[in-house]
Amino acid sequence: MTTVRPKLSIDGLIAELLTLGKISEAEPPVVTRVVFGEADLRARAYVKNLCVDAGLTVSEDAIGNTFARWEGSDPELAPIGTGSHIDAIPNAGLYDGCVGVLGGLEAIRTLKQLGFSPRRSIELVIFTAEEPTRFGIGCLGSRMMASVLTPEKARNLRDKEGRGLEGLRASAGFDGPLERVALQAGRFAGFVELHIEQGPLLEEEGVDVGLVTHIAAPASVRISIEGEGGHAGARLMPGRKDALAAAAELILALEAAAKSTGAIDTVATTGVCEVFPGAVNSIPSRVRLETDIRDIDGARRDRVIDALQAACIDVEKRRGVTIKSELVNADPPATCDEAILAALEDSAKAAGRTYRKMVSRAYHDTLFIARIAPVAMLFIPCRGGVSHRPDEYASPEWIGAGVHVLARALAQLAS
Ligand code: GLV
Ligand code: MN
Ligand code: MN
Repeated sequence: MTTVRPKLSIDGLIAELLTLGKISEAEPPVVTRVVFGEADLRARAYVKNLCVDAGLTVSEDAIGNTFARWEGSDPELAPIGTGSHIDAIPNAGLYDGCVGVLGGLEAIRTLKQLGFSPRRSIELVIFTAEEPTRFGIGCLGSRMMASVLTPEKARNLRDKEGRGLEGLRASAGFDGPLERVALQAGRFAGFVELHIEQGPLLEEEGVDVGLVTHIAAPASVRISIEGEGGHAGARLMPGRKDALAAAAELILALEAAAKSTGAIDTVATTGVCEVFPGAVNSIPSRVRLETDIRDIDGARRDRVIDALQAACIDVEKRRGVTIKSELVNADPPATCDEAILAALEDSAKAAGRTYRKMVSRAYHDTLFIARIAPVAMLFIPCRGGVSHRPDEYASPEWIGAGVHVLARALAQLAS
């Protein structure tokens, strides 16, 4: 054992978060790290080096999921996993995902430096492409680990520029058969993801940590509308087939369908609207929409998707445009494991931290790891509930409390 650090090195962890945040495709403080882009690769290298410095054994799978292992005294036992993602949507902040990766690493370093010896190995996992930015589907790495996305379907993924997953992963240095990404149930004895809440409750209530009992069910529908272009001045209004006007109806129909459930938990968003040709004096001939629909009740979420699809049929008929919709994903919600939650609760109490149980409305890689292992999540507050924005912020105290509880829980689960 080298130097013993008696407590968490929060200053060091914050410095690492700030350094990671500067590895961005955009001018800091804006963080953009699209999977397999130059910043994503530099960020991976930075984090992998930190893991090696911490004495962990680092390996990667064919899609770039990264595993940093602290070998337990009984290496035959299934490990306890922790971790999150370091890719970031365009115009993001410093903390989404990164708190779970660097905080997980700090929890491991602290346990090591305290002289703790785990019976089960502890593995830090850095998942590939939690964010859907490049391929339009979230949790690519964990989805494949859990065999929810087959290698065959993954091989067909393309980004907006038409570049395929196969070429992109190869140029990022990840090769080998995609078939090997899938993990067997039981590969992890348990998994805990530390993450910012991305909502306001913990801060508003002054509670240190949230113990996540359920993760809401996400879905995404991609819609393409083919209308008829033409001169914005010369073409009169009767008989127009304006693809953007049709898209506007669909966007509002989706919003209305989400509101109509009367449930606060139903949310729907159209986050992408690409207009062709995108000239002020040209009638839009083609539009591509990407929509995101979520609920903690999967069946109720599906009724909103059905309403959107009915609106597509209606708008197509009335406006004489052609509308194609593709259900990209419709994942069931996840329920967290009682025993892992109990370990988190014990840890929060032992660490003298306040806690509450809560639902995750955002999705996370844990949603998919739940298919192959008992899981739970640990949330910390973020200022104003703001996330997916450059002004996302979690204070060193909040992060410290989360890492403290995580470290204790990992120690308990790995003993
Ligand atoms: C994850 O980033 C999400 O959109 O919930
Ligand atoms: Mn995110
Ligand atoms: Mn995240």
